[in-house]
Amino acid sequence: MEHQGTKPLQTERLLLRRFTPADADAMYNNWAKEEQVARYLTWLPHRSVEVTKTLLKDWCSFYSQPNYYNWVMEYKGIPIGNVSAVHVNERSHWVELGYCMGPTYWNRGLMTEAVRAVIDFFFQEVKIHRVCISHATPNAASGRVAQKCGLSYEGTQREAFRSLNGEYWDIANYAILRSQWETH
Ligand SMILES: CC(C)(COP(=O)(O)OP(=O)(O)OC[C@H]1O[C@@H](n2cnc3c(N)ncnc32)[C@H](O)[C@@H]1OP(=O)(O)O)[C@@H](O)C(=O)NCCC(=O)NCCS
Repeated sequence: MEHQGTKPLQTERLLLRRFTPADADAMYNNWAKEEQVARYLTWLPHRSVEVTKTLLKDWCSFYSQPNYYNWVMEYKGIPIGNVSAVHVNERSHWVELGYCMGPTYWNRGLMTEAVRAVIDFFFQEVKIHRVCISHATPNAASGRVAQKCGLSYEGTQREAFRSLNGEYWDIANYAILRSQWETH
């Protein structure tokens, strides 16, 4: 792999860039405080903008690491969500992506557009071998994003995810290999 760090990526409608501490208000208001955003994720909705500020301070400090990838999605100048590499496997050359976005912007193809750009970046520039995405099965929209980005379904882990309200959910796994991406 040839790590590049979080480099800016431009798509048709989005700018993907590094977070700055100045994004805290927009991140809190547009997605981090929203229960429906966090529902299938591992974190609780932020109770105040102070939580967002503290998190962003950490995230911004991680940008000095060349294998840290975390983009804020900017749409018409407004931060609306993020895409990140939640796991980077140095030994076997794969990354797992995670993403979320404010409900106001759902179902316009924006996350698919962002994730496609990130996948291209990982294959083209970081020389990765494999990109994967996992989601709780009730979260069908996330699976659609994976499919629309060319990832193949690889199977389901039964009740592998404990939700914040204590329910166990199945996890569906998707991935795209370099060979698939090259012919995609
Ligand atoms: C999942 C998420 C990122 C999708 O973003 P998005 O920009 O709306 O995604 P897109 O518009 O690119 O694609 C969404 C697809 O899901 C479909 N979809 C939406 N809700 C659905 C549902 N309840 N059941 C089935 N499909 C659904 C849409 O119709 C669309 O598919 P289509 O283009 O074939 O019609 C967004 O809903 C989100 O941020 N959710 C909260 C955080 C989250 O769950 N992140 C993923 C964790 S694994």
